[in-house]
Amino acid sequence: MIDLRSDTLTRPTDPMREAMARAEVGDDVYGEDPTVAALEERVAGMFGHEAALFTPTGSMANVLAVASVVSPGEEVLCESSAHIARAELGAHGAITGLTMRTWTKERGQVDLAAIEAMHAPDMGPFFVRTAAVSVENTHNFAGGAVLPIEDLRALRAWAGTNETKVHLDGARLWNAHVATGTPLLDYGRIADVLAVCLSKGLGAPIGSLMVGSADAVAEARVRRKRMGGGMRQVGVLAAAGAYALDHHVERLADDHAHARLLGEALGLDPEAVDTNIVVVERPDAMSFVERAATEGVRIAAVGPRAVRLVTHLDVSRSDAERAAVVLSRLAAR
Ligand SMILES: Cc1ncc(COP(=O)(O)O)c(C=O)c1O
Repeated sequence: MIDLRSDTLTRPTDPMREAMARAEVGDDVYGEDPTVAALEERVAGMFGHEAALFTPTGSMANVLAVASVVSPGEEVLCESSAHIARAELGAHGAITGLTMRTWTKERGQVDLAAIEAMHAPDMGPFFVRTAAVSVENTHNFAGGAVLPIEDLRALRAWAGTNETKVHLDGARLWNAHVATGTPLLDYGRIADVLAVCLSKGLGAPIGSLMVGSADAVAEARVRRKRMGGGMRQVGVLAAAGAYALDHHVERLADDHAHARLLGEALGLDPEAVDTNIVVVERPDAMSFVERAATEGVRIAAVGPRAVRLVTHLDVSRSDAERAAVVLSRLAAR
């Protein structure tokens, strides 16, 4: 089986497991795990922020990050197919007590005109105040689309003059960095707070980080514990993340090339595949997924009329080529 359902399906490599076994550990709730502390400091530095916090999931990193800039009873604006709106099971409303309004833009892009039109300043006890705008780069449900840095800079400039914070869901920011060559520091500059994942394209078994100011991270550390996310000798997992940062970032370019190959096999313009995710409209999405599985290729339906393919560390060039042959044959029927 060639499994293209998600880039979260990777299994830790042998050298990654060795790095995990060697990790120095301590009780991280006491702040005594040196491997976690080193990872947090390293990742904060990569984005030019003061601090970072290791979390089990990207969803928790997002909840903590958004809660650091939006209070209960305030709102965050985001694109309508954003992961925080569609796939975190209402956590931001249920846990933080915030509300969301959304704009819709092709390929999940920033729409500054829509944001300006929706933005609600503090008007006392009449309207919900817009506290933050959230953007997702790369954008999962928009097929791994990259948000151009120029648009993010324009958003940053606008937010700075409108008392609004910027949250960046960077679960796959590494893919955007490799695809465009935009330095991670530049992405760090456009956001007040970010979430990044080590357990997607980078191949770690678990782990994400919230990145922001020292004060925001100190507060998030308390919230993480309250949510049951205080972890003990978790350096064994942070070591997997550190290994992934050392060895699995630049190779994302291979995943992007494989995704273009698969996109082309399904009739897309390969130039329209920005990174490692391919979303294709198909009226027969469910049966297409079933037929692909019977031919040894697992893909996912992301709605009744759309299928998604994701390339990753456990999909080799020859796997991608083999899957492309199968999928183009099925698509032609
Ligand atoms: C863009 C984006 N943000 C956040 C997440 C949440 O990550 P997790 O599954 O680790 O909670 C995902 C998961 O796929 C994602 O694609």
